Amino acid sequence: MPTERKKVTIPDLQAKKEEGRRITMVTAYDYPNGVLVDKAGIDIILVGDSLAMVVLGYENTVPVTMEEMLHHCRAVARGAKHPMLVGDMPFMSYQVSIQQAVDNAGRFLKEANMDVVKLEGGLERVQVVRAIVDAGIPVMGHIGLTPQTISKLGGFRTQGKSLGAAIKVVEEAVALEEAGCFSIVLEAIPDRLAAIVTKRCKIPTIGIGAGPDCDGQVLVLHDMLGMFDRFTPKFVKKYANLSELGVQALQQYVDEVEKGTFPGPEHVFTLKDDVYEALLGELEKRGV
Ligand code: KIV
Repeated sequence: MPTERKKVTIPDLQAKKEEGRRITMVTAYDYPNGVLVDKAGIDIILVGDSLAMVVLGYENTVPVTMEEMLHHCRAVARGAKHPMLVGDMPFMSYQVSIQQAVDNAGRFLKEANMDVVKLEGGLERVQVVRAIVDAGIPVMGHIGLTPQTISKLGGFRTQGKSLGAAIKVVEEAVALEEAGCFSIVLEAIPDRLAAIVTKRCKIPTIGIGAGPDCDGQVLVLHDMLGMFDRFTPKFVKKYANLSELGVQALQQYVDEVEKGTFPGPEHVFTLKDDVYEALLGELEKRGV
């Protein structure tokens, strides 16, 4: 008999790291994609603030609000029942005060059915991470390229390339682990640096543009399925080109509607002959 799939938990991820089994994670932002990712058997769904760019069309992730994030988290949670669900804390939802950070982290669990939260930053976020974890909310860290501080970093570019910067990445990972993070995303750092961090940390690392030696990998769904054309980072592999397929399907629809071949007989609701004849007669009698 097939075993029933269970919800992915933090101990499951930890066991994967310890047994050398890779962790899979992708983003999703709505109900149908939540269903899709769940069906594919992915371990973790991140409702990423990348939705600002790939769903809402903003230039970067900075403008997205708590309310928008919660709205999309709820939709994903309605569709995805087995993956661990990570709510991404948007810019300025955890930077103003520790109280504000704990309150907002709590909203992801109480109001949007997320299991855990993720936030960006290293040493400067240690206190906030500790406070959220102390409140009983698991936190995933995110270091390396942190898109919310893109202007400070000088653009979307690889981090940790110099000796000093590489040491800082290792120190940040260790500090976040000590502060209580259950996992850390490593974004856009050199592969050998990610391997060092992964070896030094007891908690799982999830890489995006961080090479193959992380404990897991994450990609933005719209990048990997070819649904976001504005730009594709070097670290993305396009597993499908859904926007091309979508345009082809829409062009065929336009063509068939214009020719009158859609809808066909199989898409139509019919009226019985006697009702049809009676209707015509009745309308004529009434002069309609
Ligand atoms: O928002 C997001 O999609 C992310 C990933 C790039 C890890 O933070």
